[in-house]
Parts: sequence; C-alpha cells; structure tokens
Amino acid sequence: MSQNAQPARILVAEDEANLRLVIQKELQRMGHDVRVAPDGEAALRLLEESNVDVLLADINMPRLDGMELLRRLHQRPNPPEVIMLTGHATVESAIEAMKLGAYDYLSKPYHIAELDALVKQAAEKRRLRVDNARLRTLVERQTATPEIVFVSDAMREVMRLVERVAPSDASVLITGESGTGKELIANAVHRLSNRAEGSFIDLNCAAIQESLLESELFGYEAGAFSGAKGRKLGLWELADNGTIFLDEIVELPSPLQSKLLRAIETNSFYRVGAVRKVQVNVRIIAASNRNIEEVVSDGRFRSDLLYRVNSFQINLPALRERPEDIEPLAQHLLKKLAKSNPPELTPEVLAALKGYAWPGNVRQLRNALERAVLLANDGRITTAELPPEISAPSSAFSPFMMAATTPGGATATSSSSSGDSDQTASVAAPLREVERQQILAALEQTGWHRGKTAEMLGISPSTLYRRLRDYNLTRRP
Ligand SMILES: Nc1ncnc2c1ncn2[C@@H]1O[C@H](COP(=O)(O)OP(=O)(O)OP(=O)(O)O)[C@@H](O)[C@H]1O
Ligand SMILES: [Mg+2]
Repeated sequence: MSQNAQPARILVAEDEANLRLVIQKELQRMGHDVRVAPDGEAALRLLEESNVDVLLADINMPRLDGMELLRRLHQRPNPPEVIMLTGHATVESAIEAMKLGAYDYLSKPYHIAELDALVKQAAEKRRLRVDNARLRTLVERQTATPEIVFVSDAMREVMRLVERVAPSDASVLITGESGTGKELIANAVHRLSNRAEGSFIDLNCAAIQESLLESELFGYEAGAFSGAKGRKLGLWELADNGTIFLDEIVELPSPLQSKLLRAIETNSFYRVGAVRKVQVNVRIIAASNRNIEEVVSDGRFRSDLLYRVNSFQINLPALRERPEDIEPLAQHLLKKLAKSNPPELTPEVLAALKGYAWPGNVRQLRNALERAVLLANDGRITTAELPPEISAPSSAFSPFMMAATTPGGATATSSSSSGDSDQTASVAAPLREVERQQILAALEQTGWHRGKTAEMLGISPSTLYRRLRDYNLTRRP
C-alpha cells in the first residue's frame, strides 16, 4: 500500500467552536482522520496520547496560545508538522512561527481547498521525515534484507503459513531451535504485511537487563527516575503502525509479562512515570527456541500471555530434519559471503556438509562457511578448511554437538539452543565443565567480546548470554 493512500492524522486546535467544527467536517470529508481541541492545553494533552501528523493551530487561543504550543512541541521528539491559522492581525506572528519551525500558515478567511492542499503537503513532509529517521536506523537491516532459501517440503509449508498469516494482524509465535531462521521469518511476516512500510522493531528479551527492560519497551517521562532528563520513546511506541518482534519471549520477567499482556489487550500503555496512556497499533511477533508450553506449565510464563501471542504458531524445522536444504543454503551463503567470486565446494565438502547434524542450524553453517572462505586457496573450499567436527564428525567431540546424538526426535534439542535448566541439569557435570571451558576459551580469544564469542561458537548472542549467566561468567575471573 502506498503511504499516500493513508489518511493524515490531524489535530485542530481552535477556540472558535463553529470554525472548529467546519474545519473538522471538511477535512474528514477529504478523508483525513481528524481530532479537535478547544485550546492549547487540551491540544498538548491529545498530542501526548496519540500520534499526529499535522497540527492546525490557531494563534490566539486561551490557556496556551498557538505560539507557545509550537514552542513546547518542538522540545519533543518527532513533533508533528504545524500549520498556523491566523487572523489579519497576527500575520506577523505567523511569520515568527515559521522561524520557530512551523510548516506554513494560512490567514483567515481561507478556502477549504487551500487548507486541504496544505495539510496534504505537510503530512507528506512529516512522513518523509519519519521515514528518513526510520531508514537511518534501519539501514543495516534493510541492506541485509534477506532472501529465504529452501527446497524442502517442510520449509515450503512454513512459507505457505507465512504468506497466509502475514496480511492479517494476528500475532505470530515462531518456534524452532537456535539458528533455524526465526528472526528471518519474523522479518518476512512483517515485509509481507500491510505494515511493511512501518517499523520492524526487534527486542531481545533475554539480552537486556531486567531493570532496563520496562523503559526500553515502554519509554519514560522526564523525571521518571534519576537520570531521566527528557522523555524517551520506548520500542513499543516506535513500533506504532508496524511490528514488534519479541525475541526469546519466555525470558521476559514476570512483572513485565503482566504489563505486556495489558498493553496487548488494550492497545495502549503507560510510559514509565507517566499518568496518561499512549494509544498504539502494534502487531506482535514473538519467538522462542524453547518449548513454550513447558515453560507455561512450569509457571514461568503466563498462559494468558501465551494465548495472546500465539494466535498463530509457526515451527521452524531444524536443518538436520531437512538435509536437502543444506546444499542450496550453502551456495546462497557462499555467494553472500564472498560476493563477486564465491569459491567452489569440492564434492567431499558437500558430502561432509550434508552429513553433519548442524546443532547450530543455518547460523552454524554460515559461520563454518565464513571461516572456510577466509582460509580457501585457489577458489576452492576443501575439507581442510572445514572445522574438524564437520569434516570428521565422529573424531571430534564438541558439547555444541549434542543434537547429533538425538537426531530428528521431537525432544531433540541441541545443547547450544537450549537454556532450559532441566536439560542443562541432565547433562553430566564434566560435560558442563567442557562447555564452560570452551566458552571461556572463546571469550579469551575475542577479548571478552560477546558478539564475536557467540559467532565463534556458532550460537546466538542470547544463548551465549544465558550460558554466561548459568556459568556465572559475567566478567573476567
Ligand atoms: N532459509 C534461509 N535462507 C537464507 N538464510 C537463512 C535461512 N535460515 C536462516 N538463515 C540465516 O541464518 C542465520 C540465522 O538465522 P536467524 O538469526 O533468523 O535464526 P534464529 O532462529 O533467530 O536464531 P536464534 O534462536 O539463535 O536467535 C541468519 O544469518 C539468517 O539470515
Ligand atoms: Mg534470533
């Protein structure tokens, strides 16, 4: 859908009741979404609660006049475009208003067609401004706009579900082992939805400090706590008219689970320290690499929240359950990694890749190929460039290969993808020690850089965070 087709959200601040009503009716007739306020203070309150594209403000109003309203608005992040409405006497102030950042002014009496044209231009300008800001923050994500590669029936079915559910506003729960492509699929659901032009906001519930999570999610007001100098918008608000991706949702601490539930049920929330609610329109996609029903029966995750987020569930099969995807994925990833001149894979390498169990799934495949590309000579990747556990699976032992011993079964979960304490507990102590040592060694090699460590181990950053917590490896010993 083109953005021009969306109605502009307009607020009319005008103290003269008749004029206010006429402007409202006319602009509604032109297809805009119009709210009204009888004075500057009321306007400011409405602006707090809702997302407005264009504000039409009379200059002379009781309580808070148009100029002061404009000044206050421009202290806020992401203000609407403002068109000043003036009588003859106030044209000079209107020009002053433009210096203060107003988009334009109209002096009375004006024609409604004039007003409509101006409103459309202002709304377009604001959209461009918002889009530019959004684009700047999303450039990385956009340039990485991912292609989803598969030949297996299992993934074909996944893609069928994605296409089915994307255009609706239903919340989606994506499950699957670490590295199976949950984030990629979440992104695809967003891009195939009517919200594709809105933001896709990604929040990893496991990777963020519990004390920061609420303000990260819902934002805060100035003075909400010491250090809160100005207002900050939370991810939930930034996702307005877009999608929020709640990765590793079962890691959400329980007080926040109730707040999240309320936000979803009412489509509104409070910024931390705020007295007023903010209305939003957000679609939720959640992901988990753990069996969410189990976490619910343990009492760690609210069942009512589960029902809210899993209106539609998509389960991503592990890579070892769809070995026919390995070769096309490898070719695709190689092309992406090596760009112009991807090296060839020898038949032995292809056989080794296809024969391996890939406990870290597609991410691990990508990491292995990345390493091989760096090591390759003469434009060829041979088994010498593969990590030993892949080129000779039985001879090397890695704790990150647990899944290899339990292929295919419903309960098969790689140790790397699971932070489940039950599973961890069932692993013998010496094995935990091996894993701990391996993580430590990787941390040392990367100078305790968590992102690089996770890459090196072929696990996701959030899995690494959980492991660091489990093993108490929060800082250098
Ligand atoms: N079908 C696919 N086609 C192309 N690339 C894929 C596919 N599946 C996964 N990938 C790539 O593999 C990597 C891991 O995928 P992603 O981050 O989506 O996994 P995940 O399930 O979210 O993992 P985790 O649970 O560890 O967070 C990414 O680089 C992604 O682009
Ligand atoms: Mg992920």
